[in-house]
Amino acid sequence: MLLLAIESSCDETAVAVVRDGRQILSNLIASQIDLHAVYGGVVPELASRRHLEVINPLVEEALSVAGVSAAELEGVVVTRGPGLVGALLVGVAFAKAYAYALDIPLIGVHHIEGHIQAIQLEKEVEYPFLAVAVSGGHTHLYRVDAIGEYRLLGRTVDDAAGEAFDKVAKMMGLGYPGGPVIDKLAASGDDGGIVFPRPMLQKKNCDFSFSGVKTAVLNYLQRLESKPDEKLIGQIATAFQIAVVDVITKKTLRAVEAEGLSRIVVAGGVACNSGLRKKFAELSIINNVETFFPSPILCADNAAMLAVAGDYYLSRGFTSPLDLNAVSNWPLEQLKYS
Ligand code: KG4
Ligand code: ZN
Repeated sequence: MLLLAIESSCDETAVAVVRDGRQILSNLIASQIDLHAVYGGVVPELASRRHLEVINPLVEEALSVAGVSAAELEGVVVTRGPGLVGALLVGVAFAKAYAYALDIPLIGVHHIEGHIQAIQLEKEVEYPFLAVAVSGGHTHLYRVDAIGEYRLLGRTVDDAAGEAFDKVAKMMGLGYPGGPVIDKLAASGDDGGIVFPRPMLQKKNCDFSFSGVKTAVLNYLQRLESKPDEKLIGQIATAFQIAVVDVITKKTLRAVEAEGLSRIVVAGGVACNSGLRKKFAELSIINNVETFFPSPILCADNAAMLAVAGDYYLSRGFTSPLDLNAVSNWPLEQLKYS
Protein backbone atom coordinates (compact mmCIF):
# COMPACT_ATOMS: atom_id res chain seq x y z
CA MET A 1 0.00 0.00 0.00
CA LEU A 2 1.13 3.53 -0.69
CA LEU A 3 0.49 5.54 2.48
CA LEU A 4 0.62 9.16 3.51
CA ALA A 5 1.65 9.44 7.19
CA ILE A 6 1.13 12.47 9.41
CA GLU A 7 2.57 13.17 12.87
CA SER A 8 1.79 16.26 14.95
CA SER A 9 1.72 15.08 18.57
CA CYS A 10 4.19 17.61 19.98
CA ASP A 11 6.56 20.15 18.46
CA GLU A 12 7.36 18.53 15.13
CA THR A 13 5.09 18.53 12.13
CA ALA A 14 6.08 15.47 10.15
CA VAL A 15 4.82 13.97 6.91
CA ALA A 16 6.02 10.86 5.09
CA VAL A 17 5.13 8.78 2.08
CA VAL A 18 5.83 5.09 2.65
CA ARG A 19 5.25 2.03 0.47
CA ASP A 20 4.17 -1.28 2.03
CA GLY A 21 5.09 -0.10 5.52
CA ARG A 22 8.76 -0.55 4.66
CA GLN A 23 10.03 1.67 1.84
CA ILE A 24 10.38 5.35 2.75
CA LEU A 25 9.79 7.55 -0.30
CA SER A 26 9.87 10.78 1.69
CA ASN A 27 10.14 11.62 5.38
CA LEU A 28 9.96 15.34 6.14
CA ILE A 29 10.10 17.02 9.53
CA ALA A 30 9.29 20.68 10.20
CA SER A 31 10.77 21.26 13.64
CA GLN A 32 9.39 23.97 15.92
CA ILE A 33 12.40 24.03 18.24
CA ASP A 34 13.21 27.69 17.48
CA LEU A 35 9.66 28.71 18.27
CA HIS A 36 9.65 27.11 21.73
CA ALA A 37 13.32 27.46 22.74
CA VAL A 38 12.83 30.97 24.12
CA TYR A 39 10.23 29.60 26.57
CA GLY A 40 12.45 26.71 27.66
CA GLY A 41 9.83 24.14 26.63
CA VAL A 42 6.91 23.46 24.31
CA VAL A 43 4.04 25.98 24.48
CA PRO A 44 1.00 23.90 23.42
CA GLU A 45 -1.04 26.71 21.83
CA LEU A 46 1.92 27.88 19.75
CA ALA A 47 2.60 24.31 18.69
CA SER A 48 -0.97 23.85 17.39
CA ARG A 49 -0.84 27.11 15.45
CA ARG A 50 2.46 26.26 13.82
CA HIS A 51 1.23 22.76 12.86
CA LEU A 52 -1.74 24.41 11.18
CA GLU A 53 0.50 26.75 9.19
CA VAL A 54 2.90 24.14 7.90
CA ILE A 55 0.89 20.96 7.47
CA ASN A 56 -0.57 21.68 4.04
CA PRO A 57 2.66 22.76 2.31
CA LEU A 58 4.55 19.94 4.04
CA VAL A 59 2.14 17.35 2.62
CA GLU A 60 2.58 18.86 -0.86
CA GLU A 61 6.35 18.73 -0.45
CA ALA A 62 6.32 15.15 0.86
CA LEU A 63 4.36 14.03 -2.22
CA SER A 64 6.69 15.93 -4.50
CA VAL A 65 9.86 14.49 -2.90
CA ALA A 66 8.31 11.01 -3.11
CA GLY A 67 7.43 11.60 -6.75
CA VAL A 68 3.83 10.49 -6.31
CA SER A 69 0.51 12.24 -6.81
CA ALA A 70 -2.25 12.37 -4.21
CA ALA A 71 -4.41 10.24 -6.51
CA GLU A 72 -1.94 7.34 -6.13
CA LEU A 73 -2.24 7.25 -2.32
CA GLU A 74 -4.08 4.23 -0.90
CA GLY A 75 -4.46 5.29 2.71
CA VAL A 76 -3.72 7.91 5.35
CA VAL A 77 -2.14 7.12 8.71
CA VAL A 78 -2.02 9.66 11.50
CA THR A 79 -0.92 9.85 15.12
CA ARG A 80 -4.10 9.71 17.17
CA GLY A 81 -2.34 10.04 20.55
CA PRO A 82 -0.89 10.34 23.08
CA GLY A 83 0.40 13.92 22.99
CA LEU A 84 -0.75 17.52 23.20
CA VAL A 85 -4.40 17.39 22.28
CA GLY A 86 -4.49 20.65 20.30
CA ALA A 87 -1.40 19.60 18.35
CA LEU A 88 -2.77 16.12 17.69
CA LEU A 89 -6.07 17.54 16.51
CA VAL A 90 -4.39 19.43 13.67
CA GLY A 91 -2.96 16.21 12.24
CA VAL A 92 -6.11 14.19 12.90
CA ALA A 93 -8.42 16.81 11.31
CA PHE A 94 -6.14 17.14 8.30
CA ALA A 95 -5.86 13.37 7.86
CA LYS A 96 -9.63 12.90 8.07
CA ALA A 97 -10.28 15.59 5.48
CA TYR A 98 -7.59 14.23 3.18
CA ALA A 99 -8.83 10.64 3.41
CA TYR A 100 -12.42 11.78 2.84
CA ALA A 101 -11.53 13.94 -0.16
CA LEU A 102 -9.52 11.14 -1.79
CA ASP A 103 -11.98 8.46 -0.69
CA ILE A 104 -9.22 6.30 0.81
CA PRO A 105 -9.10 4.63 4.24
CA LEU A 106 -7.83 6.33 7.37
CA ILE A 107 -6.09 4.78 10.36
CA GLY A 108 -5.19 6.54 13.61
CA VAL A 109 -2.22 4.94 15.34
CA HIS A 110 -0.48 5.19 18.70
CA HIS A 111 2.60 7.43 18.76
CA ILE A 112 4.62 5.00 20.87
CA GLU A 113 3.65 2.06 18.66
CA GLY A 114 5.12 4.18 15.85
CA HIS A 115 8.37 4.68 17.77
CA ILE A 116 8.66 0.99 18.66
CA GLN A 117 7.93 -0.29 15.14
CA ALA A 118 10.21 2.31 13.43
CA ILE A 119 13.08 -0.18 13.50
CA GLN A 120 11.23 -2.39 10.98
CA LEU A 121 11.79 0.31 8.33
CA GLU A 122 15.49 -0.47 8.50
CA LYS A 123 15.80 -4.00 9.81
CA GLU A 124 13.29 -6.81 10.26
CA VAL A 125 13.35 -7.57 13.97
CA GLU A 126 11.66 -10.84 14.84
CA TYR A 127 8.97 -10.96 17.53
CA PRO A 128 8.87 -11.29 20.46
CA PHE A 129 11.21 -8.60 21.67
CA LEU A 130 11.53 -6.23 24.59
CA ALA A 131 10.94 -2.59 23.73
CA VAL A 132 12.26 0.28 25.79
CA ALA A 133 10.41 3.45 24.82
CA VAL A 134 12.40 6.46 25.99
CA SER A 135 11.09 9.85 24.97
CA GLY A 136 9.93 13.17 26.36
CA GLY A 137 6.80 11.55 27.80
CA HIS A 138 7.72 7.89 28.17
CA THR A 139 10.18 5.58 29.85
CA HIS A 140 8.30 2.34 29.49
CA LEU A 141 9.30 -1.28 29.07
CA TYR A 142 7.04 -3.49 26.97
CA ARG A 143 7.07 -7.07 25.88
CA VAL A 144 6.14 -6.94 22.19
CA ASP A 145 4.67 -10.12 20.72
CA ALA A 146 3.41 -8.63 17.45
CA ILE A 147 2.22 -5.33 16.01
CA GLY A 148 -0.65 -4.35 18.31
CA GLU A 149 0.40 -6.68 21.15
CA TYR A 150 2.19 -4.85 23.92
CA ARG A 151 2.43 -5.93 27.55
CA LEU A 152 3.60 -3.25 29.95
CA LEU A 153 6.39 -4.56 32.19
CA GLY A 154 7.34 -1.32 33.90
CA ARG A 155 7.40 2.43 33.57
CA THR A 156 8.65 5.57 35.16
CA VAL A 157 6.81 6.51 38.32
CA ASP A 158 7.61 10.21 37.82
CA ASP A 159 9.58 11.99 35.07
CA ALA A 160 10.30 10.41 31.71
CA ALA A 161 13.99 10.13 30.80
CA GLY A 162 13.74 12.82 28.10
CA GLU A 163 11.90 15.10 30.49
CA ALA A 164 14.72 14.69 33.02
CA PHE A 165 17.31 15.56 30.34
CA ASP A 166 15.28 18.65 29.41
CA LYS A 167 14.79 19.78 33.03
CA VAL A 168 18.43 19.28 34.01
CA ALA A 169 19.58 21.21 30.93
CA LYS A 170 17.18 24.01 31.84
CA MET A 171 18.58 24.15 35.39
CA MET A 172 22.05 24.58 33.96
CA GLY A 173 20.92 27.19 31.44
CA LEU A 174 21.70 24.96 28.49
CA GLY A 175 18.53 25.59 26.51
CA TYR A 176 15.81 23.40 25.00
CA PRO A 177 15.68 20.53 24.15
CA GLY A 178 18.21 19.39 26.71
CA GLY A 179 18.89 15.84 25.54
CA PRO A 180 21.08 16.65 22.54
CA VAL A 181 23.03 19.36 24.46
CA ILE A 182 23.78 17.10 27.42
CA ASP A 183 24.67 14.27 25.04
CA LYS A 184 27.25 16.51 23.37
CA LEU A 185 28.70 17.73 26.67
CA ALA A 186 28.94 14.16 27.93
CA ALA A 187 30.93 13.01 24.90
CA SER A 188 34.23 13.67 26.72
CA GLY A 189 33.29 11.11 29.39
CA ASP A 190 34.82 13.37 32.08
CA ASP A 191 32.47 13.33 35.09
CA GLY A 192 35.08 14.87 37.43
CA GLY A 193 34.34 12.11 39.95
CA ILE A 194 30.76 13.34 40.47
CA VAL A 195 28.32 10.51 41.18
CA PHE A 196 24.54 10.98 41.09
CA PRO A 197 22.10 8.43 42.53
CA ARG A 198 20.65 5.57 40.47
CA PRO A 199 17.02 5.52 41.65
CA MET A 200 15.15 2.20 41.51
CA LEU A 201 18.23 0.32 40.37
CA GLN A 202 18.17 -1.89 43.46
CA LYS A 203 14.43 -2.58 43.13
CA LYS A 204 13.65 -5.90 41.46
CA ASN A 205 10.69 -4.53 39.45
CA CYS A 206 10.85 -2.91 36.00
CA ASP A 207 9.89 0.60 37.11
CA PHE A 208 12.02 3.70 36.78
CA SER A 209 12.29 7.04 38.56
CA PHE A 210 14.22 10.03 37.32
CA SER A 211 13.06 12.87 39.53
CA GLY A 212 15.61 11.90 42.22
CA VAL A 213 18.60 12.28 39.86
CA LYS A 214 17.18 15.58 38.69
CA THR A 215 16.89 16.80 42.30
CA ALA A 216 20.40 15.56 43.05
CA VAL A 217 21.70 17.74 40.20
CA LEU A 218 19.71 20.71 41.53
CA ASN A 219 21.10 20.19 45.05
CA TYR A 220 24.61 19.92 43.66
CA LEU A 221 24.19 23.21 41.76
CA GLN A 222 22.72 24.95 44.81
CA ARG A 223 25.61 23.86 47.03
CA LEU A 224 28.20 25.43 44.74
CA GLU A 225 29.73 28.62 46.07
CA SER A 226 30.14 30.21 42.68
CA LYS A 227 28.65 29.89 39.23
CA PRO A 228 29.92 26.66 37.63
CA ASP A 229 32.44 27.16 34.83
CA GLU A 230 32.18 25.41 31.47
CA LYS A 231 34.31 22.49 32.62
CA LEU A 232 32.17 21.81 35.68
CA ILE A 233 28.94 22.13 33.64
CA GLY A 234 30.33 19.47 31.31
CA GLN A 235 31.21 17.21 34.25
CA ILE A 236 27.77 17.58 35.85
CA ALA A 237 26.09 16.83 32.51
CA THR A 238 28.33 13.79 32.05
CA ALA A 239 27.66 12.46 35.56
CA PHE A 240 23.91 12.95 35.04
CA GLN A 241 23.89 11.13 31.71
CA ILE A 242 25.98 8.26 33.11
CA ALA A 243 23.49 7.80 35.97
CA VAL A 244 20.44 7.81 33.66
CA VAL A 245 22.06 5.48 31.12
CA ASP A 246 23.15 3.12 33.88
CA VAL A 247 19.62 2.74 35.22
CA ILE A 248 17.94 2.37 31.81
CA THR A 249 20.39 -0.20 30.46
CA LYS A 250 20.69 -2.34 33.59
CA LYS A 251 16.95 -2.48 34.29
CA THR A 252 16.21 -3.27 30.64
CA LEU A 253 18.72 -6.11 30.61
CA ARG A 254 17.25 -7.51 33.80
CA ALA A 255 13.76 -7.39 32.25
CA VAL A 256 14.89 -9.09 29.07
CA GLU A 257 16.34 -11.93 31.11
CA ALA A 258 13.25 -12.22 33.32
CA GLU A 259 11.05 -12.44 30.21
CA GLY A 260 13.34 -14.99 28.59
CA LEU A 261 13.80 -12.74 25.54
CA SER A 262 16.91 -12.22 23.44
CA ARG A 263 16.12 -9.02 21.51
CA ILE A 264 15.81 -5.41 22.66
CA VAL A 265 14.47 -2.51 20.60
CA VAL A 266 15.31 0.95 21.91
CA ALA A 267 12.87 3.60 20.66
CA GLY A 268 12.00 7.29 21.03
CA GLY A 269 13.97 10.54 21.08
CA VAL A 270 16.27 9.53 23.95
CA ALA A 271 17.35 6.52 21.84
CA CYS A 272 19.45 9.10 19.92
CA ASN A 273 21.68 9.39 22.99
CA SER A 274 25.19 8.26 22.17
CA GLY A 275 25.98 7.19 25.75
CA LEU A 276 22.87 5.01 25.82
CA ARG A 277 23.69 3.47 22.44
CA LYS A 278 27.26 2.71 23.52
CA LYS A 279 26.35 1.21 26.88
CA PHE A 280 23.60 -0.97 25.38
CA ALA A 281 26.05 -2.19 22.76
CA GLU A 282 28.60 -3.15 25.46
CA LEU A 283 26.11 -4.82 27.79
CA SER A 284 24.38 -6.67 24.95
CA ILE A 285 27.58 -8.50 24.09
CA ILE A 286 28.19 -9.44 27.73
CA ASN A 287 24.57 -10.57 28.18
CA ASN A 288 24.30 -12.30 24.82
CA VAL A 289 21.30 -10.33 23.58
CA GLU A 290 20.78 -8.29 20.43
CA THR A 291 19.95 -4.62 20.79
CA PHE A 292 18.46 -2.64 17.91
CA PHE A 293 18.39 1.13 17.52
CA PRO A 294 16.72 2.91 14.61
CA SER A 295 18.81 5.61 12.91
CA PRO A 296 18.53 8.92 14.81
CA ILE A 297 16.10 10.39 12.22
CA LEU A 298 13.73 7.48 12.94
CA CYS A 299 14.21 7.68 16.74
CA ALA A 300 13.04 11.29 17.02
CA ASP A 301 9.46 12.21 16.13
CA ASN A 302 8.81 11.48 12.46
CA ALA A 303 5.91 10.28 10.34
CA ALA A 304 7.50 7.34 8.48
CA MET A 305 7.51 5.37 11.74
CA LEU A 306 3.69 5.41 11.78
CA ALA A 307 3.46 3.62 8.45
CA VAL A 308 4.73 0.27 9.78
CA ALA A 309 1.69 -0.29 11.99
CA GLY A 310 -0.56 1.78 9.68
CA ASP A 311 0.14 -0.50 6.72
CA TYR A 312 -0.29 -3.60 8.88
CA TYR A 313 -3.71 -2.51 10.14
CA LEU A 314 -5.05 -1.12 6.86
CA SER A 315 -3.99 -4.17 4.87
CA ARG A 316 -5.95 -6.29 7.35
CA GLY A 317 -9.05 -4.17 6.92
CA PHE A 318 -8.87 -2.17 10.16
CA THR A 319 -9.79 1.47 9.60
CA SER A 320 -10.65 4.49 11.72
CA PRO A 321 -13.98 6.29 11.30
CA LEU A 322 -14.14 9.82 9.92
CA ASP A 323 -15.28 11.06 13.34
CA LEU A 324 -11.97 9.85 14.84
CA ASN A 325 -10.90 11.98 17.78
CA ALA A 326 -7.43 12.67 19.17
CA VAL A 327 -6.57 11.23 22.60
CA SER A 328 -4.04 12.93 24.81
CA ASN A 329 -3.71 10.07 27.26
CA TRP A 330 -3.70 6.58 25.77
CA PRO A 331 -1.85 3.67 27.41
CA LEU A 332 -0.22 1.55 24.69
CA GLU A 333 -1.17 -1.70 26.41
CA GLN A 334 -4.84 -0.76 25.95
CA LEU A 335 -4.56 -0.75 22.15
CA LYS A 336 -7.46 -2.45 20.43
CA TYR A 337 -8.16 -2.61 16.73
CA SER A 338 -11.34 -4.24 15.54
O1 KG4 B 1 10.39 10.92 20.86
P1 KG4 B 1 10.62 12.39 20.97
O2 KG4 B 1 11.23 13.10 19.79
O3 KG4 B 1 9.30 13.13 21.35
C1 KG4 B 1 8.40 12.58 22.27
O4 KG4 B 1 7.62 11.68 21.87
O5 KG4 B 1 8.51 12.98 23.45
O6 KG4 B 1 11.56 12.61 22.26
C2 KG4 B 1 11.94 13.91 22.65
C3 KG4 B 1 12.87 13.78 23.84
C4 KG4 B 1 13.26 15.13 24.41
O7 KG4 B 1 13.08 15.07 25.81
C5 KG4 B 1 14.73 15.27 24.04
O8 KG4 B 1 15.50 16.02 24.96
C6 KG4 B 1 15.17 13.83 24.02
O9 KG4 B 1 14.10 13.13 23.43
N1 KG4 B 1 16.38 13.62 23.23
C7 KG4 B 1 17.54 13.18 23.75
C8 KG4 B 1 18.50 13.20 22.69
N2 KG4 B 1 17.86 13.65 21.57
C9 KG4 B 1 16.56 13.91 21.92
N3 KG4 B 1 17.85 12.79 25.01
C10 KG4 B 1 19.12 12.39 25.22
N4 KG4 B 1 20.08 12.41 24.27
C11 KG4 B 1 19.81 12.78 23.01
N5 KG4 B 1 20.78 12.77 22.09
ZN1 ZN C 1 7.87 10.78 20.19
